[in-house]
Amino acid sequence: MRRACVVGSNISHSRSPVIHGYWINEHRLDACYEIRDISHEELPDVFDEIRKGQLQGCNVTVPFKEAVTDFLDASDPPAKITGSVNTIYMKDRLVRGTSTDGSGYMAHLVGTHPGIDLSSTSVLLLGAGGAARSILGGLVDSGAKHIFVSNRTPENAVELAGLFPHKASAVDSNLAEEVVANADLIINTTSLGTGGKGAYAFDMQATKPTCIISDIVYAPLETPMLAQARKLGRPTLDGLGMLLHQAVKGFELWFGVTPDVTPELRRIVEADLQSFR
Ligand code: ATR
Repeated sequence: MRRACVVGSNISHSRSPVIHGYWINEHRLDACYEIRDISHEELPDVFDEIRKGQLQGCNVTVPFKEAVTDFLDASDPPAKITGSVNTIYMKDRLVRGTSTDGSGYMAHLVGTHPGIDLSSTSVLLLGAGGAARSILGGLVDSGAKHIFVSNRTPENAVELAGLFPHKASAVDSNLAEEVVANADLIINTTSLGTGGKGAYAFDMQATKPTCIISDIVYAPLETPMLAQARKLGRPTLDGLGMLLHQAVKGFELWFGVTPDVTPELRRIVEADLQSFR
């Protein structure tokens, strides 16, 4: 039986076993996917198992996304850009790390809004943490026109935008109306909206009617920002799709099958999220 897992601390809430378990069943694989709730001291044991072929690989979550880079033989470009890893796998006898959040976000965006022309899409990215970094990488790779980064702590926005000086620039956190009015896509990557509380402050009425309002928070599925967008009739993009799509690459790398993000999988994970509330 082939095995994979998610490693982290205090992760009993992780939805990854639900997602991968669904695909294992769908493809009738002799495989399993489990939660490994471990301490930092136990990380080397996980790498030993991968090197010995006892584990195909793993997902990595809080608080080890950066710490695991010390144990890798090689990092893929998205992991190098973000300095963090969410997926580990073995290839050509090397244990490699990658980050699938950015490509997962882009797959969700393009899948939900297939008409989007990224080369003419001006993006306003709210937040400058780890998630923002991954998504910025995905947007740049996909050829987005320009990305404006706004963050509570302005220095972090300047630092993040500085990674891609030809494509990104920092803007003031007191968002000027023209910055909001020019955006074709606004993405909240901060934790504001989690538990249904708060939203990044900007005047949504000033957005274009076609501006996509996107939130990566998925609990609740409809955050205050997305609720306001729905009331204003703006197109939206919720956070659950990114969670589902970021998992695709790991499954493919470990088990050699590219799984689909089906409406049924989405319903199952939605129901699971609701049962935890
Ligand atoms: P993640 O890995 O989920 O991106 P993170 O790296 O800790 O988490 O980043 C959190 C982001 O949310 C940061 O941009 C943070 O802003 P600061 O750089 O100013 O800390 C932002 N954030 C968190 N709480 C916030 C709040 N109450 N208001 C505005 N931004 C907030």
